[in-house]
Amino acid sequence: MFEQSNFDNAAPYYDLFELKSQKMYAYILEILEKHFSSHGAHTILDLACGTGAQAIPLAQKGYQVTACDLSASMLEIAQRKAGDLQICFCQGDMRSSYFGSFDAVIAIFNSVGYLSRADFLSALKNIRRQTRNEKGLFIFDNTNRNALAAGQFSTGRRLDTVGEADGKKFVRFFQSDFDRVSGVMTMDWEAHVQQDPQPMETFRGTWHRQTYTVEEMEQILNAAGFRVLECYDRYGGVFQKEQSFSVLVVAEAQ
Ligand SMILES: C[S@@+](CC[C@H](N)C(=O)[O-])C[C@H]1O[C@@H](n2cnc3c(N)ncnc32)[C@H](O)[C@@H]1O
Repeated sequence: MFEQSNFDNAAPYYDLFELKSQKMYAYILEILEKHFSSHGAHTILDLACGTGAQAIPLAQKGYQVTACDLSASMLEIAQRKAGDLQICFCQGDMRSSYFGSFDAVIAIFNSVGYLSRADFLSALKNIRRQTRNEKGLFIFDNTNRNALAAGQFSTGRRLDTVGEADGKKFVRFFQSDFDRVSGVMTMDWEAHVQQDPQPMETFRGTWHRQTYTVEEMEQILNAAGFRVLECYDRYGGVFQKEQSFSVLVVAEAQ
């Protein structure tokens, strides 16, 4: 597994920087609900709930949600945001923690990419034993290695986010790299947040993300007892092997 401490450090600023893509998050929810509905799924395990981007709206829609994350800081924020909603929040590790049997398990926004290949397989086996046998679902997304290899990737320092919200001005720079042999993407980031009249705060970090081709993912999923039902472009529309930067995968227990 790659550096988890980044999520603890970034937690207070996660929503500011990551939840900016409202259209993408809405699309993901639409796909989740479409498949929950076709599979009669009501009990949902969100295995990397972060600050609640999926767990909270799903609970609001009446699903019975158990939300887990490795980071106590992310969980704390999710719990605060959830208020009185009935969500069972638990700290845990998707590679090993057991929460019961669910109609569907989700891990959204590249969460499995922060695991090494070996850990991804361990996580999948752990997810399989928590997915009901008959039409149990596992839905997740990750960066598409094929697209990176085909050049859908910008190297060099770039401005990733700039904005103003909750009385804070913020800006983030990214410098990314992609190792074609291992399929690991590295992102060095530097973020600045200013809430007047306080001095500007600066954060730096490095993320590593394991990317997979759809064929690689299919192979690993099969080895863990899932079959791929459908792949979507995470940003909407039809998944295109060499064009779609990220893939949203719907898998079913077999
Ligand atoms: C990019 S965030 C996604 C959060 C949320 N699903 C969203 O869409 O905003 C990835 C989350 O995965 C969590 N995570 C990373 N490794 C984990 C593990 N082994 N078990 C459980 N959670 C993990 C991190 O703490 C982080 O909150």
